[in-house]
Amino acid sequence: MNEAAKKVFIKSYGCQMNVYDAERMADMLEGEAYKEVSSAEEADLIILNTCHIREKAAEKVYSEIGRLKQLKAKRQKEGKQTLLTVAGCVAQAEGAEILRRAPAVDIVVGPQSYHHLPDMLKSAASARKKPVDTDFPTIDKFAALPEPHEQKIQDRGPTAFLTIQEGCDKFCTFCVVPYTRGAEYSRPLKEVLKEADRLLENGVKEVTVLGQNVNAYHGEDEKGDTVSLADLLRTLAAKGTPRLRYTTSHPRDMDEDLINLHGELPVMMPYLHLPVQSGSDRILEAMNRQHKASHYYQIIEKVRKACPHIALSSDFIVGFPGETDQDFKDTMKLIENIDFAQSFSFKYSPRPGTPASSSTDQVPEELKSERLAQLQDLLEKQRLKFNQATVGQTVSVLVERRGKETGIMSGRSPYLQTVQIETSLSRIGDIIDVRIKRASANTLYGEDVTNTR
Ligand code: 5AD
Ligand code: SF4
Repeated sequence: MNEAAKKVFIKSYGCQMNVYDAERMADMLEGEAYKEVSSAEEADLIILNTCHIREKAAEKVYSEIGRLKQLKAKRQKEGKQTLLTVAGCVAQAEGAEILRRAPAVDIVVGPQSYHHLPDMLKSAASARKKPVDTDFPTIDKFAALPEPHEQKIQDRGPTAFLTIQEGCDKFCTFCVVPYTRGAEYSRPLKEVLKEADRLLENGVKEVTVLGQNVNAYHGEDEKGDTVSLADLLRTLAAKGTPRLRYTTSHPRDMDEDLINLHGELPVMMPYLHLPVQSGSDRILEAMNRQHKASHYYQIIEKVRKACPHIALSSDFIVGFPGETDQDFKDTMKLIENIDFAQSFSFKYSPRPGTPASSSTDQVPEELKSERLAQLQDLLEKQRLKFNQATVGQTVSVLVERRGKETGIMSGRSPYLQTVQIETSLSRIGDIIDVRIKRASANTLYGEDVTNTR
């Protein structure tokens, strides 16, 4: 790339699907002579890849735009143009409204249309028009995007995300995803495998396949037959992928074949993120989750039978409209009974346009905070207990990056725990044996014993 290359800075908020989208935008823009940089100050193009899942996430975007407006004005005084783009789910949900609320923004592009960015950039830079694209095009966005950039895959390290499914048809009553990401769509098998090959050829050791409803995946193979997530994971394993993960799953789509895969394929990492949201049947029904707590227990029992040491993770919402003390107790009971390795928990946040937001039975903010603190306290204890159980054990760790101190590398255990490793020999991308000496709620600490056995 020449010296005069323009510079792009991309900041991503929210979920792993957004991380993946940001990478694909960077890959695409590399072809348009935009070099990716790590600070907004030096960028000719700033992309905020936004999240709309909770109110706080969306508000963060507007305060960031406020800061960037000043940066843009400063650069303008120096004779430099800066194009500010809002991408992602806030762009999808608010569209042209963003330009009215934040005139410093030049381009608004939704998550299904970012392959149009090169054209939008041209019209924004020349005609000083402000393009907005929040369509759900019928042509596959993925097919229109260039393949992931090889050097960039290598630079990103030994773990990679691969989106195989997007959108959601489930319409949980609290959730904006069906409106921002659209209807459920599965990428064809051939396309997914081609991308996986490229990742593996460029040193990737762990592939996490992604989807808002990843276990609802139903891609087509070349014969036109439907391929399930379990089929796809088997094919990726047969290619020699050293480590495989998938996220996020819905309890309703957790079929036996996928469950049994955890006992069948050694490369399937023993970790399952399966959001339950609540332990109360009444609330699950009001959320339109379309399953009962007992169904969740049954799945977990089967998963543990297939893979007894599996680490379990979930999402929880507290203070959903109408949630009583008893409903909350049911959720606490479920957490106690299942025993999670880690989890994510949130206060219910009314999202515009979703059915639950118009309920007149909203839970007071204070009560939500109280319940969240109680729930997080329990989850934190379980997480610490899970981590401490690895002390004295030898776990296999994928080395991802250098640690902060010399002689320390950082990686992940099969259970997705961060591990700080004392080692003199191992390199990024190695899968090594680490004896765990100590554990906190966030991190395991151990020494490389790969060469001492
Ligand atoms: N309020 C709070 N949490 C939410 N989530 C989704 N929508 C909302 C909302 N309106 C949480 C769910 C979901 C995770 C990604 O975010 O727990 O699983
Ligand atoms: Fe949102 Fe429910 Fe779809 Fe998950 S399953 S993306 S929570 S609507």
